[in-house]
Amino acid sequence: MPKDMTEKRDIFHRRESEARSYCRGMPALFTTARGSHLTDAEGRTWIDFLAGCSSLNYGHNDPDMKAALIDHIAGDGIAHGLDLHTDAKGDFLSAFETHILAPRGMDHRVMFTGPTGANAVEAAMKIARKVTGRTNVIAFTNGFHGVTMGALAATGNGYHRGGAGMDKAGVTRMPFDDYAEGVDSAALLDQMLSDSSGGIDAPAAIMFETVQGEGGLNAASPEWVKRIAEIAKTHGALLIIDDIQAGVGRTGTFFSFEEMGVMPDIVTMAKSVSGFGLPLALVLVRPEHDVFGPAEHNGTFRGNTHAFVTARVAIEKFWADDAFQRELADKAALITRALNDVAALVPGARLKGRGLMQGVDVRSGDLAGEICARAYDKGLVIETSGNEDQVVKVLAPLTTPVETFHKGFNILLDATRDAVTARAKLAAE
Ligand SMILES: Cc1ncc(COP(=O)(O)O)c(C=O)c1O
Repeated sequence: MPKDMTEKRDIFHRRESEARSYCRGMPALFTTARGSHLTDAEGRTWIDFLAGCSSLNYGHNDPDMKAALIDHIAGDGIAHGLDLHTDAKGDFLSAFETHILAPRGMDHRVMFTGPTGANAVEAAMKIARKVTGRTNVIAFTNGFHGVTMGALAATGNGYHRGGAGMDKAGVTRMPFDDYAEGVDSAALLDQMLSDSSGGIDAPAAIMFETVQGEGGLNAASPEWVKRIAEIAKTHGALLIIDDIQAGVGRTGTFFSFEEMGVMPDIVTMAKSVSGFGLPLALVLVRPEHDVFGPAEHNGTFRGNTHAFVTARVAIEKFWADDAFQRELADKAALITRALNDVAALVPGARLKGRGLMQGVDVRSGDLAGEICARAYDKGLVIETSGNEDQVVKVLAPLTTPVETFHKGFNILLDATRDAVTARAKLAAE
């Protein structure tokens, strides 16, 4: 490696906090990216099956979004406008109303929060508490909702929870769909809420992801989601669907709950909503629950004008008709087929997730980590999820061409084969 490259790398070890994570397993010095490919300073390329953890659903540097952003900047368009009216915000809201909300019969208002998913979750939980006058939020095993204090209370992961250094309040944890064998977790929740000695305080909200992204790609069944929505209604709680990772086409439709016959009171969105990897988060809230006063939940960067520009292009380019969604159905089927081949290499492995949010549970965090490490060495960026990091998780850009999917899955197959063989050899020694 050239000397200046080594020096460039040293700065990360010398100065960047120990809290850094992805870069430990993928130490390349990345410089450029386009579509589904990442390139490093030495000219090596990787196929990207991580997509900024679902923040780059339309791939890297989409040419139309890039052109619109460059035009906006070149024309001295507003870069930062607090929550002032700007043409960029107006154009985004119009596109979102026309192509996303109206066709789905959603009368929700759009509240811009601070630009992270966690901040959208904070806002959602606060709205539910203000609307109902109750404190308790029901969240589920393996749920991940972010790491700021309110959101962290709803997050199940013990490692993240441990980082808080204090009590996490206001949340009751219940088993997610299919969490415990033979337990109907919706019936259990209903029974406990209906029992005056069930011990659960009346909830302000019931909040969940329809597919648990960080929690191991656990996909709730439509029946479970519907029953939870009914339970929320019966018990006077708001239904919050956290679509931060599963939304924006990731499960095959714009919202992950679209074909489940439910209408959430609140939806949280972030990650891919800007379409370009720019920070933008929002909360969709039914008008009758839009109760915050001006700036009651504020944030200097609520509404990121550059992100509005790219988000508007993304909506108009991909969601103005159903062509993209139809493509997603074919790609989801391709992913299922390819992952079945991967799973066949690992005894006891099984497929998880749905749509373009699928993976393989290889029943061991060490093995999943080794598969991802070997894939990285062979030119594929891919990560794990799950309570033991035991799920190899595919989060490729939704725009990934079929050819590139095939190349990526060939690498994943090779990596899995090598990892399984290496472990078998080790066990035999
Ligand atoms: C479902 C879900 N909710 C909330 C968050 C938190 O988003 P952020 O990391 O932008 O704060 C994440 C992040 O992975 C997520 O997957």
